[in-house]
Amino acid sequence: AASLTTAWPLTGFAQKKIVLGFSQIGAESEWRTANTESIKAAAKEAGIELKFSDAQQKQENQIKAIRSFIAQKVDVIAFSPVVESGWDTVLREAKAAKIPVILTDRAVDSKDTSLYVTFMGSDFIEEGRKAGRWLVEKVKGKTGDVNVVELQGTVGSAPAIDRKKGFEEAIKADPRIKIIRSQTGDFTRAKGKEVMEAFLKAEGKKINVLYAHNDDMAIGAIQAIEEAGMKPSKDITIISIDAVKGAFEAMMAGKLDVTVECSPLLGPQLMSATKDLVAGKSLPKRIVTEETIFPMEVAAREFPKRKY
Ligand code: AHR
Repeated sequence: AASLTTAWPLTGFAQKKIVLGFSQIGAESEWRTANTESIKAAAKEAGIELKFSDAQQKQENQIKAIRSFIAQKVDVIAFSPVVESGWDTVLREAKAAKIPVILTDRAVDSKDTSLYVTFMGSDFIEEGRKAGRWLVEKVKGKTGDVNVVELQGTVGSAPAIDRKKGFEEAIKADPRIKIIRSQTGDFTRAKGKEVMEAFLKAEGKKINVLYAHNDDMAIGAIQAIEEAGMKPSKDITIISIDAVKGAFEAMMAGKLDVTVECSPLLGPQLMSATKDLVAGKSLPKRIVTEETIFPMEVAAREFPKRKY
């Protein structure tokens, strides 16, 4: 159950335009681009002045951006932390300046949870479990080993840690399913392709399944599989996460088996939380995005409804 935090002591902002400082991770994936668009559009719609900063995948840039938001005395700071660790110092600085912080999409591992007001985004462990459960069902009744290669997200990031954990937990239900190789592809298509090439070189036809922590890496890997003369989905079952349009296109082309939904459309929720904070309202400590899973069979039907 969601616990309630005490309202941040914000007063006297009723008349002026609310200023929100947002530090984005970068533009590593189709998901991230959709997330940035959602935040920018929602700020405009809500009449909130958005100070947007792109960290180009570097934690040091995010820390610099947060410090600059503090110096500019913004009303609220929000950010998607590229990795989980190393935020306490800068978050303490924000707290000392009485600027509330909202975490979006990814979590931090700070023991002191008073350093941020709320964390809104997906349950990444559950996403990993959904991917694992789908595989357990898929191989039910079939014989032989199930050798999985795993393309992990950015090292030290919440989605990479949690999606690995959830998947491993779920595949325990079938001891034949084994992860034979696991390496980071940094959530990008280029890295996903490169690492898949290395997996194919090392393991070749032994590979039965690819589990990619996001669609972009899966799409890169599909290219590597085809270039190696194999058929994605037919020779290697492919499971990924995000459910971006690119994944639906791959499913409709018969090259991707399933994608677990992870919604990047956090903008409207972030703006409403920002307004609530400025109005002195309390927020739940955790706001979880509701999500589903899309197997290849439903891709053509669902595609026209996709918003990202
Ligand atoms: O934090 C969410 C993850 O980050 C998405 O799954 C991935 O595509 C993005 O880069």
